[in-house]
Amino acid sequence: MEIYQIPLVLLLTILSANAQTSSDETLAVVNDYLLPTSVVPIHYDIKLIPYLDDDNFTFDGEVNIKVRAEEVTDVITLHQNDTIIEESTVTVTDLMTNINLIIVNQTYEALYHFYRLHLEENLQVGREYEINIKYKGYLRDDMQGLFKSSYTTSDGETRWLAATHFQPCRARRAFPSFDEPALKATFRVSIARTANRHALSNMPVVNMTGPDPDNGGYIWDHFKETPMPLSTYLMAFIVSDFTNLTTDNYLSLWQRQEAISQAEYSASISLPLLRALEDYTDLHFFLPKMDEVAVPDYQSGATEQWGLVTYRQSRTGHFHMSSLVRPQLDSYCEDCGPTVLRPCSNRVFLDCFKSVVQKSWSRQSSMVGIQS
Ligand SMILES: *[C@@H]1O[C@H](CO)[C@@H](O)[C@H](O)[C@H]1NC(C)=O
Ligand SMILES: *[C@@H]1O[C@H](CO)[C@@H](O)[C@H](O)[C@H]1NC(C)=O
Ligand SMILES: *[C@@H]1O[C@H](CO)[C@@H](O)[C@H](O)[C@H]1NC(C)=O
Ligand SMILES: *[C@@H]1O[C@H](CO)[C@@H](O)[C@H](O)[C@H]1NC(C)=O
Ligand SMILES: *[C@@H]1O[C@H](CO)[C@@H](O)[C@H](O)[C@H]1NC(C)=O
Repeated sequence: MEIYQIPLVLLLTILSANAQTSSDETLAVVNDYLLPTSVVPIHYDIKLIPYLDDDNFTFDGEVNIKVRAEEVTDVITLHQNDTIIEESTVTVTDLMTNINLIIVNQTYEALYHFYRLHLEENLQVGREYEINIKYKGYLRDDMQGLFKSSYTTSDGETRWLAATHFQPCRARRAFPSFDEPALKATFRVSIARTANRHALSNMPVVNMTGPDPDNGGYIWDHFKETPMPLSTYLMAFIVSDFTNLTTDNYLSLWQRQEAISQAEYSASISLPLLRALEDYTDLHFFLPKMDEVAVPDYQSGATEQWGLVTYRQSRTGHFHMSSLVRPQLDSYCEDCGPTVLRPCSNRVFLDCFKSVVQKSWSRQSSMVGIQS
């Protein structure tokens, strides 16, 4: 499990090594990295087109962020890193009057990844506004933010995919955002893909549009809105040509075609394990679907995003199934195999469950107990 490390290594170093530095000073450094609290996000509509063909590894994006003013201010500050914002298209609309505010200038402070919109007039406290930003970016090579990855078929053909890794603070590399875990909002995502691929996000697809003959035959997948506000780092998107093994129309494992048999065991055990954990914790896992995707060369062993777990394809570790959940598991799965050794994807799955239920648990150790 990764933790959110806000101003990166620097801050952690200050916090851990400099116990004698005055706490006021430390706090001041931390605060420099935090967004002002004068404007908070409520909802994001995100549209992304990752290009994976013809050696054009870029993406086009558009984000519509509904925000609320909490204090009088004439500056809206959000996070951005390594995206190219089309300045002339940025708008801020007052949702009460439907009038676009005049943007005096747009500035960027690289150290803090702060993108500032300076407005001609103040925002009204309590009023809602909508920020629209069109931007471009490069699919990264470093497995951070929105990145490209590939695998080779047995015929020697290279197949490309696009995936995300936003923990701890890299959502800002895929879409301009209020990229701090406390600034939660609801999300609605649309992703365009070619017909030979599919797109996944945290939520299921509600509908599709296209193929659009004017736009390379791209098809838009529109995903359902998240049922509750989430932190930006919990968002995830993947576009690939993987195939799936789906259980009960609910839980899907995704893997490249030639390796899909590797997912069979996980596919057979994941849903029984989920039900067993629900029984043990007496908590209902309310997400509308769950996808687990094996990404080649994934940076972490695994990341438990809401409804979409990604893990490194080569990861083959085992973990010990706790005897705590074993009786519940047996009631869902007569032939679940050996008592203790489980493939990694199920560890990942536990992590995901943990990330969803943790807030309602007083002690994380209870969950750690199940895992060990
Ligand atoms: C990539 O493709 C898109 C859509 O066709 C196009 O708008 C963009 O300019 C291309 N970028 C590069 C670097 O070729
Ligand atoms: C942007 O506008 C603000 C408010 O008018 C002003 O204080 C600031 O100097 C301007 N910055 C630049 C780089 O023009
Ligand atoms: C994006 O963030 C990285 C890490 O902080 C930094 O090295 C890079 O310069 C940033 N890019 C821009 C355009 O600010
Ligand atoms: C797709 O679904 C969304 C959300 O339910 C809806 O707003 C939109 O109109 C739908 N689009 C089409 C083309 O059906
Ligand atoms: C998984 O594959 C089956 C066909 O094998 C398909 O019917 C189903 O829609 C797929 N599930 C998803 C979530 O795409």
